[in-house]
Amino acid sequence: MTVSVTPLSASLGARIEGLDLRSLPQGDDLAQVRRAFLDHQVVVFPGQKISAGDQIAFCELFGAADSDYKAPPQRDDDYRKGVMLVSNVRKNGVPIGNLPDGDMQFHSDGAHRASPYLATTLYAIRVPLQGGDTLFANLYAAYEALDDPTKARIADLRVHNAYILDATSRDEESRPGGILREAEHPLVRVHPETGRKALYVNRLMTRFIVGQDDAEGRVLLDTLLDHVERPEFIYAHKWTAGDFVMWDNRCVNHARTDFSAEEVRLLRRYTISESAPAPA
Ligand code: SIN
Repeated sequence: MTVSVTPLSASLGARIEGLDLRSLPQGDDLAQVRRAFLDHQVVVFPGQKISAGDQIAFCELFGAADSDYKAPPQRDDDYRKGVMLVSNVRKNGVPIGNLPDGDMQFHSDGAHRASPYLATTLYAIRVPLQGGDTLFANLYAAYEALDDPTKARIADLRVHNAYILDATSRDEESRPGGILREAEHPLVRVHPETGRKALYVNRLMTRFIVGQDDAEGRVLLDTLLDHVERPEFIYAHKWTAGDFVMWDNRCVNHARTDFSAEEVRLLRRYTISESAPAPA
């Protein structure tokens, strides 16, 4: 089979066809996948039939799994390896998934930790007919579209990110009893592999610009939060069962649109750590 890479939007995302991920891509095929991941930031492999083990093995081509996840109520071996479910399904009234239901504001996975996630993967098992789309925003394009004075103004700034586990909106910032994680990161992140600059700010987690938690700083932050969500930077992924999607959290924000509680949405998620070395 020949591997083909087809862009999915003017801004980011590509569909990769010609691979069955039950076997690991090798040689030129793997090189093409790596290139597409860096060039397009979000890669979609449609029509896959992969197990949790296949998903883990593929991800290990890019780095080590990250085990900092909230354990679901019923753990099994896959969960212990860092696999989790994203689902609105409940068993005996208890969610089988790790993330909340419904829409979710733009964020970058792990931006609330000192070491964010390099990439996140989702494998679609059951998807709703309507809604539950994942929106991806290109943070390189957002940075590059800024005017030069703004680029100069923000060049050395840092952001303070905070996330209450399970929150879907920044308004939940003061939810009592929530588990809060916080971290600071450069507002302009240089991607370690491409050398490109990304505007690393997101609505769900970024609370303030460090040293600028005043009226002027808040206006700047609000302006940047609106800027990174401009439609021209976004690709909306409408899921089909069998889609396997991997995105680069170092240069992509993502969000989720709402969907009916009457419909089932079930995806398997596995994240790749930024700090641990890739296996030899
Ligand atoms: C996530 O934020 O990792 C989940 C995105 C989704 O459910 O579409």
